[in-house]
Amino acid sequence: MKRVLKIGKVVCLLLILLLLTVAAEASAGLKGIIIYDTIYHSTAEVAYWIRAMVGEDQYLEVKHIDQIVDVSPYDYVIIGSYTRWEKPSSRIYKFVEKYQDVLATKKVGYFVTCGDSDETMILKTPGGTPHLIAGRNYLYDIQQKFPKVKPVIIGGFGGRQVNPNLSIVDKMFTALLEKLAREGVNWAGRDVWESLIPERVEYFANEIRTKILGIPPLADPKPYRKYWNSLQPAKVGNPTLAKLTVKPYVEVRDADRVYFDRLRVKDTFENAEANLKAWAKAAGVNLAEQRRTFFNVYYHGKKSYGGNEAVLHIVLGTMPEDPGYIHISVRSYDKKEKRGSLYSDINALEKQIGFVRGK
Ligand SMILES: Cc1cc2nc3c(=O)[nH]c(=O)nc-3n(C[C@H](O)[C@H](O)[C@H](O)COP(=O)(O)O)c2cc1C
Repeated sequence: MKRVLKIGKVVCLLLILLLLTVAAEASAGLKGIIIYDTIYHSTAEVAYWIRAMVGEDQYLEVKHIDQIVDVSPYDYVIIGSYTRWEKPSSRIYKFVEKYQDVLATKKVGYFVTCGDSDETMILKTPGGTPHLIAGRNYLYDIQQKFPKVKPVIIGGFGGRQVNPNLSIVDKMFTALLEKLAREGVNWAGRDVWESLIPERVEYFANEIRTKILGIPPLADPKPYRKYWNSLQPAKVGNPTLAKLTVKPYVEVRDADRVYFDRLRVKDTFENAEANLKAWAKAAGVNLAEQRRTFFNVYYHGKKSYGGNEAVLHIVLGTMPEDPGYIHISVRSYDKKEKRGSLYSDINALEKQIGFVRGK
């Protein structure tokens, strides 16, 4: 009996080895390219970091967008950009427009580096309509504009900004945003500001390996973070200031201009959404879906209080770096006196979704 088990184990191992070899051979012929656009070069670093994780044994070129005249020789094309005004660069838009028919016949991946990486984030600027921003949300518009190009993978990583080295115009816009942002900005006072979540880049590179090349994911991608890491301080002259400033997953802000509750619960997306709907029904909140993607959903939750209609902006999302957890944000831009039963409704929502503060 022992002998039979031993032989079984050996056969299993051989089968696994055979499968891995077949997968590696299947990908060996695929020719890929990462095409990127950048202003301050953090997107270039990310492109080479991804390339390293895909592996030296794979054919994967890395080229700046200005070096491209044809994409037809490649089997797959990864397109990466910095974010400006909530979108990839205008050159990336022109590029995808120009090559959309060829790209439609290939496996395509999109990624962005960006300042804001919280994909449950709603932005409201003075006079503007509140809308979903950050991370993969910045790739929504380009997918709508060029529907023939169907990316098999997308990534929104966060990024880096080196404030003293921005151009004068960029410094001006950045300073303006600092003043206008209702929720404040976390780059203020820093020379180097980073929001990039390394696990997201690693997840994306592993998706190239598994979904495009059909080879196994990297068991340990951490050593490749050297492509991104640096010894530069957040602020020259202040060694106590930590460089990385990823937003907290759990936070409450109760200010005049905005109320928001940022939550995180261990759950499935379906269950968390069912809980949200059950809460809305019980609280008399009318949920109107604004946008749904494979990683998040954005609702307006409307409720009348003594003749006033209050609107809650509710987002449920999943994040590649936090498997098994659902991220939720609830925002109100109504003035404090018009927020009605917001506080008790939020308490009831937290209870319904099983959120425990401090966990
Ligand atoms: C003028 C300006 C506008 C920007 N707009 C956005 C934006 O709308 N959303 C965002 O998340 N990040 C925004 N960013 C941050 C950049 O996308 C981010 O720093 C990125 O990593 C820069 O890439 P690069 O170093 O390759 O140029 C902006 C930065 C500047 C200077």
